[in-house]
Amino acid sequence: MSIAIWSSRFETGIETIDAQHMSLFSAINGLADSFRAGSSQAQARESLAFLARYTVEHFRDEERFMREARYPYLAAHCSDHADLASRLRDFQDKEASGKVVTMDMAIFLLDWLKQHICDADMRFVAYLKE
Ligand SMILES: [Fe+2]
Ligand SMILES: [Fe+2]
Repeated sequence: MSIAIWSSRFETGIETIDAQHMSLFSAINGLADSFRAGSSQAQARESLAFLARYTVEHFRDEERFMREARYPYLAAHCSDHADLASRLRDFQDKEASGKVVTMDMAIFLLDWLKQHICDADMRFVAYLKE
């Protein structure tokens, strides 16, 4: 089930970042798919692990871009990233302790991502254009 639908309003114009954001959207769809009837808890675990890994990778690359551009709001941006990374670890811990990973988590991640791209990531794009 596609809950994450890409649109041009998420485009930063930075090729690597856009490609990674699109992959994050499809990873969230992968997580949503793992809640379909007939899917196992193991599938949800795997999707969540992939999403967590890929998110950390994306954050690292994005922060490197920002550091290279001497972005003045890097620290605040990194702390937003760290917050989400810690939420993802919480979800993984919950799942590992036997709690069911739910669609609510996928929706939370999607909402966070959309908001973060449109506000925080776009602020960086605006800074680059200055
Ligand atoms: Fe970001
Ligand atoms: Fe981003």
